[in-house]
Amino acid sequence: MRMIFIGPPGAGKGTQAARLVERFAIPHISTGDMFRAAVKAGTPMGKEADRYMKAGQLVPDEVVIGMVKERIAEPDCSEGFMLDGFPRTVPQAEALDAAGVGLDVVLVLEVDDELIVSRIVGRRSDPETGEIYHLQFNPPPAEIMSRLVHRKDDTEEACRTRLGAYHDQTSPIIPFYEARGLVKRVNGVGSPDEVTARITAALA
Ligand code: AP5
Repeated sequence: MRMIFIGPPGAGKGTQAARLVERFAIPHISTGDMFRAAVKAGTPMGKEADRYMKAGQLVPDEVVIGMVKERIAEPDCSEGFMLDGFPRTVPQAEALDAAGVGLDVVLVLEVDDELIVSRIVGRRSDPETGEIYHLQFNPPPAEIMSRLVHRKDDTEEACRTRLGAYHDQTSPIIPFYEARGLVKRVNGVGSPDEVTARITAALA
């Protein structure tokens, strides 16, 4: 199963991908997570990506494309993968094509902008387990509150910039894949379990 997950920031891609990769036994490849790991490790690529991420802007295509091509060439991707956050521009989609990477499905998770802002601002993640929480919608246990991380780009201002980037640069890739009959649109509003059920039905 070679799958792509598209949706605005905070649509629930990471939350749902964690559930799907367990079911399909494929690696979850999140370009955002890869960049955050590079920022934490202080690599030259991480330092460059950090400038864009903090501002809510997309990292330049040439940086992302090389990183993803290397990752999907690794042996654990031989049976498939779930790409979360890539491609995010038409040139990135074209690069995947040019590399001869065939796809089975493109899942588009749809959520309105105003709900997105509240999901993003309230998000907290656990650096020890990778678990994603929300202060209101999925509250973390009180005993782990002090170790939770609030992403630097999870401010309302950066979130609105990220939404602009999604509408201007990422949504044009949906017709690109629709023309190939690969797109399944899923309503991302509702509880995480309800959304998982809709995705499962869409993939059946
Ligand atoms: P990335 O990490 O990919 O961020 P994103 O696409 O903005 O998506 P998020 O991780 O913010 O949200 P999500 O959809 O995974 O939502 P989640 O499940 O956490 O990218 C970050 C940055 O990296 C980019 O801005 C860019 O700079 C750079 N970058 C990455 N890839 C790139 C590329 N290809 N090209 C260029 N630059 C790139 O859920 C959000 C919150 O909502 C959580 O708190 C969760 O608990 C809650 N929630 C989830 N589902 C529900 C539900 N059903 N009901 C209620 N709450 C819910």
